[in-house]
Amino acid sequence: MMARKLLALILLLTPVFAWAQAHDASVGDHQLHYYDAVDFDIDPASVTYADHIAPILQESCQQCHRPGGGGPMAFMTYDEVRPWAPIIMYRTAIRDRMGAMPPFFVEKDIGIDGFKSDYSLSDRELALIQAWAQNGAPRGNPDNEPEAIAYSDDIGWTVGEPDLVLRSQDMTRPPVAPDWWGDIGIVPTGLTEDRYVKSIEVREINDIPTDRGASTVGGKYIWHHMTYSSGILADNGQEILQDSRVGWPIHEVGRNADIFSEKAGRLLQANSALHLGAAHMHSNGRETTGYLEFGITFFPIGYEPQYTRRGPRTGNGIDIDIVPNKPNQEIHNYVVLKEHTKIMAFEPHLHAPGVRMCMEAIWGHNQFTLNCVGYDHNWVKQYVYEDDKAPLLPKGTILHTIGYLDTTPANTNLADPRNWAGGGRRSVSNMFIDLGYSVSLTEEQFQAEMAERRANMKDRNDYDVGCPLCWAPETMEQNLAQGND
Ligand code: HEC
Repeated sequence: MMARKLLALILLLTPVFAWAQAHDASVGDHQLHYYDAVDFDIDPASVTYADHIAPILQESCQQCHRPGGGGPMAFMTYDEVRPWAPIIMYRTAIRDRMGAMPPFFVEKDIGIDGFKSDYSLSDRELALIQAWAQNGAPRGNPDNEPEAIAYSDDIGWTVGEPDLVLRSQDMTRPPVAPDWWGDIGIVPTGLTEDRYVKSIEVREINDIPTDRGASTVGGKYIWHHMTYSSGILADNGQEILQDSRVGWPIHEVGRNADIFSEKAGRLLQANSALHLGAAHMHSNGRETTGYLEFGITFFPIGYEPQYTRRGPRTGNGIDIDIVPNKPNQEIHNYVVLKEHTKIMAFEPHLHAPGVRMCMEAIWGHNQFTLNCVGYDHNWVKQYVYEDDKAPLLPKGTILHTIGYLDTTPANTNLADPRNWAGGGRRSVSNMFIDLGYSVSLTEEQFQAEMAERRANMKDRNDYDVGCPLCWAPETMEQNLAQGND
């Protein structure tokens, strides 16, 4: 009797996580995110297109789902939206895995919530869409529909009118040809003084008619991706000086614009040029001529960045060993931060087998998840942290990234689930990198950032997952003085 009581007590006290399943990141077993409208005090029968759904579509969908946008169909009017209601309900409920709409794959139930340009849907918005679709997708009173957003015919810049627009040379791809990969030359910036860049957005302008839908995004472009840099133009006007080289975020189909932090603008020098060093071109079924446009906005003249030293890159291209036909494969990478570090952006980069990436910080005996995001190789997304939410990690932190891969047929991005694959540049090989970026901080800068963060916290029970030392901000010197070495 005593023994049974003891056993019951032990079972009661044993933490539940001892029995919890390891995280399931497989595509086949992904649980859809369904909500009950009643839990949000919404009467499901009252949900209409006019009152509830149209505003959501304006906020999170129409930038792509409009004539000439990147989406395959327009969601501008009730008649356009109505036939898609059940599929809209399904795609939005996927939420953070491949196939999700809108394509913003940050998992909401774990880690930091604070990204720029976040157009993902809240639990409440999902509940509204689901109630509406299940109730026959009623229109409601058309007079209540929000005024239509007037988009120009132009494909538009998503982060504001640029101060400087640069253009690559024209490239032509035949309808059918092997992929082409190479250097497409120099683009002088014409700048006569050093300027710091606030945002950069790259778009492809080509002669594919925009009034016709394309069943895949691939049918709308010829640039698959391109890596490029900039620097001071050499006297011959044909190349840039090696030691002046500044790297820029990659351009890829479907990738969002890059917005740099107020504290870390990136330099574009006087007499500089872009060097479009490695473009990957792809034939799309019709002869296409096009060029890339770079829309650049600057910080004001006289601006100086606070942070100029870049933090480490994380990833592992060497030990990748992806076996066929298996879900939930994991690859790991660890980096010890040698300096105090602020992580500005997270950009998981995997190839077709990739389904998820997590970033966690290990500090002392604490191990905490900064963020987990789903991955869909059709979309390449950079997640830029809000300045007051970005992880602030002390030197000595171990930054751990985990890639999750699924090579079962449920992962429709794969060319063939039966293939083994290692690391490599081609899409049939694999990569495992965080293409986001971080900056290194001095002790003084680190303390100043933490002080700002603490000022925003309600009380000592408020906890900032990205800032393990926010409530223990002693410097190394103070610690030693107290004998806490
Ligand atoms: C950044 C651009 C973008 C945004 C934002 C976006 N979509 Fe999409 N959407 C696409 C593209 C491109 C496709 C085609 C590729 C695919 O099916 O995944 C697509 C496909 C879809 C489909 C599937 C159509 C089919 O043929 O089955 C639905 C439904 C959809 N989107 C709904 C939405 C909804 C609802 C939103 C907003 C809550 C949204 N999308 C936001 C670009 C976007």
